[in-house]
Amino acid sequence: MYCFPRVKCYELRMTNETEQSPMPAGLRIGDMAPDFEARSTIGPIRLSDYRDRWLILFSHPADFTPVCTTEFVELARRAEEFEARDCALMALSVDSLFSHFAWLRMIRDRFDVEVRFPIVEDPTLVIGRAFGMVAPKDNDSATVRTTFFIDPTGIIRAMTCYPANMGRSIPEMVRMLDALQAIDAQDALAPANWHPGEPLLRSPTQDLDEVFAAKGSTDWFLRETKKGKRT
Ligand code: BEZ
Repeated sequence: MYCFPRVKCYELRMTNETEQSPMPAGLRIGDMAPDFEARSTIGPIRLSDYRDRWLILFSHPADFTPVCTTEFVELARRAEEFEARDCALMALSVDSLFSHFAWLRMIRDRFDVEVRFPIVEDPTLVIGRAFGMVAPKDNDSATVRTTFFIDPTGIIRAMTCYPANMGRSIPEMVRMLDALQAIDAQDALAPANWHPGEPLLRSPTQDLDEVFAAKGSTDWFLRETKKGKRT
């Protein structure tokens, strides 16, 4: 009997590290991203090989679908922006590697852009389920549009989840990455609508004397860092 190479050579499996620790029921911000090895459009990859740099791991429902295609075209066009922030991109869906290849070829031919970041195949959904990318109440086995921002130590720092019928904002993905990197670099907090160059916020004081000494009534808990300027 002909044995399909995916099963024979590259069967998807979680790595030892993950197998030894039971998968948490639902991943949360602050959790270590579960490690895995899988086949992808750039060859076999392992999540933990991406330590020491930022990683955005994101799922999409299916190849050859309209909204997903617009997301991939836009991400490929803006791939340098992520690279400039030392952040790798990694996509994942239930589709096979050869489906991914055919879709990327079509995207290249139609939109004149090459998707060079890896797309993982997850036909058994072992990864999708581990990351909570599969909506439990959905009738099909597609992953939803989940995005994980994973820091250089492998910790999940932010997550977003969009429905299948709405595409992600790529500028918002870049902005979130900028904010996460800025709050780490300055040990600060990012206010609403923050963009690079704007002031970050300092943590509130925990000293009652500072509370009473503050000039304005909100100045002890709502205060900007010195760096950055209002635009
Ligand atoms: C899309 O990417 O267009 C799509 C995928 C799954 C369900 C609905 C839309």
